[in-house]
Amino acid sequence: MKIYWVCLQNTYNKRKENLPQGFEIIFISPQGSNNHSEKNRFCVVESERFDDEAIRTAIELKGVLFCENLQINSLNFSLVEHLALSGIPVFWLMSDLVKFLEIIGKNNKNFVNFIVNLFPNSNGDFSHAFKVGELSELIARKLGCDEVSVYCIRTAGILHDVGKFYLPHSFLNSPKRLTDLEKRFVSLHTVHGVNFVKEYLFPLSDTELYRVILDVVQNHHERLDGSGYRKGLTARDISIASKIVSVTDVYSALMCDRPYRTACDKDLALSYIQNKTPQWFDSDVVKVLIEVEKEKKKFKTFSEECYVRQRT
Ligand SMILES: [Fe+2]
Repeated sequence: MKIYWVCLQNTYNKRKENLPQGFEIIFISPQGSNNHSEKNRFCVVESERFDDEAIRTAIELKGVLFCENLQINSLNFSLVEHLALSGIPVFWLMSDLVKFLEIIGKNNKNFVNFIVNLFPNSNGDFSHAFKVGELSELIARKLGCDEVSVYCIRTAGILHDVGKFYLPHSFLNSPKRLTDLEKRFVSLHTVHGVNFVKEYLFPLSDTELYRVILDVVQNHHERLDGSGYRKGLTARDISIASKIVSVTDVYSALMCDRPYRTACDKDLALSYIQNKTPQWFDSDVVKVLIEVEKEKKKFKTFSEECYVRQRT
């Protein structure tokens, strides 16, 4: 993959001496990008300042904005939000930008490879994503969903946080608790996720699978009382798929180590979920989650559980 690098505001002299390794990089002017119509291309817009010129250029070129001077805790959030809604990620560390380009560059022809290669790059998120998928499948089936819906909900559960790969890796794995502004920045992963689904899953766009994935990626942080994000939907406007994944996501996340806290045990995680029901979570979904966890206790090991399940 060729990377077209657009240097705004005198960043060229610094960048030509200090290019990331492993990429074919071609410097161009903002106007020059129109002459490069190859499909397999990607634009990086580098700017000294996080300002209108940088934002406008990144949106026009449908690229990624790289701004080493960006201070996350003093920026105008509505500008970052505007970029996210336009499908543009922002990075301020070269190591994060390189990680993002490596993933996009290696796999943009093959969606399955893309996903498989994405998850190991986000510490712990590989197992979390698949746990959410598995648990969502079990709950959906017990709630009486048909097998097509169960399959869709499982897949959507695996992909629910796919938009996080448009956020800086080092930022997501920061050992510090996030500030309010940083949390708002992370909340944009649902917006990036929607862009991802539309960009990479559009061949499925007439299918139930596409609709469920899009819905879950967009709405898995909504809460029944309207206190979630991004739209503040309430119970009647949240689909059963998103109600299920919102529970399994929080439940599984509580039982994963994070850089700033250790994992909860199962009982503590369940009591947290119960305390937030029905304000946040759907009572029927939580009831079934508890049943599923009770049934799991019958099995001594995960492999035994899988073996028995295959035969029942
Ligand atoms: Fe999420």
